[in-house]
Amino acid sequence: MLPTKKECIKLVKEKNPPNILIHSKKVEQVSNAMAKIFLKKGLKIDKKLVSRAALLHDIDKWGQIQHGFEYRAGEKMLEKKWPSIWKIVKKTHLTAVLNNEHETWEEKIVFYCDKRVNPDDKFVSLKKRFEYIENKYGKNAERLEEIKKAEKKSIQMEKEIFKILKIKPEEFTV
Ligand SMILES: [Fe+2]
Repeated sequence: MLPTKKECIKLVKEKNPPNILIHSKKVEQVSNAMAKIFLKKGLKIDKKLVSRAALLHDIDKWGQIQHGFEYRAGEKMLEKKWPSIWKIVKKTHLTAVLNNEHETWEEKIVFYCDKRVNPDDKFVSLKKRFEYIENKYGKNAERLEEIKKAEKKSIQMEKEIFKILKIKPEEFTV
């Protein structure tokens, strides 16, 4: 059984400062809105799973800031308790899009919607979001190159998603 929203919020709160929870709640809101449109178009989407994975997607954020990107304590807990959530959360990293790991719409929705919400709860375009990621994480040429590749792949995913939704990315509002 999946955790309740309250349980997810508690877990994020326990391990992260308030700004990460604010961002996670916004990613959930955006993901829910997108899942709703998918459902309206007749696609099968597990809405509850999308909601919980979106809330928990940055469970290790603070740990990673403190201990490095390899920190995965929260994800390991998810793997044991709620593997269906873990499968989505672990694919919200840029490495997942670089390695073409996304298989389900639920995975794509949460990955993509996280790339439409800047720190805190600013809903932005994919372009703006990647500008932020480049500035923050593109510390060396190799990393910057990787981020630019991930951006290209994310643009492809955006095209794939909005072809199904039959609207333009800029028409998607929450
Ligand atoms: Fe995030």
